[in-house]
Amino acid sequence: MGRATQDLRKEHEAILFVLQIFDKMLQSGERDLETMLHYYGEVLYFLKIFADKCHHGKEENYLFEELVNKGIPNEGGPVGVMLREHAEGRDYIAQMSSSLDDKDLSGFNEAAVNYRDLLRSHIDKENNVLFVMADRVLGEEEQNLLFEKFEQHEENVIGQGVHDKLHSMIDIWAEAFGVE
Ligand SMILES: [Fe+2]
Ligand SMILES: [Fe+2]
Repeated sequence: MGRATQDLRKEHEAILFVLQIFDKMLQSGERDLETMLHYYGEVLYFLKIFADKCHHGKEENYLFEELVNKGIPNEGGPVGVMLREHAEGRDYIAQMSSSLDDKDLSGFNEAAVNYRDLLRSHIDKENNVLFVMADRVLGEEEQNLLFEKFEQHEENVIGQGVHDKLHSMIDIWAEAFGVE
């Protein structure tokens, strides 16, 4: 496994961990509205900044482009499927956002469940199909170069301050919703 795909797999682990907490939040009907709006707002922030901007950004701007250069098809092929799923995810994120603005928890829940299911199956496809192909077609040097671009991208879109903030938010949610 190369450094670039390894980095993305590690981010998948972090995203899956947050989805596990998110599941608990979605099931916790006993808490009051304002508390849940607060937590959902924070999770949405994580999904927008980390899952979409940082992680999907690394995939779309660098990895997928490199794979297409290596002959893995975009339109009608695995890269195209992944791109379509990223776009579908953004639609669900927009629905979650507008539901939160309207304090509409049932609308939020519906979009959240769709997003959660989509993202889990998407990560599964990447881990077991696309990244396996990537490890086959990319040499060590290419993986290292991609990894350097990932680091730069992460620094540009997140930076150390937001990175630390996201970590401490995740710790607080995990504690509040009993996920280890
Ligand atoms: Fe992806
Ligand atoms: Fe991914």
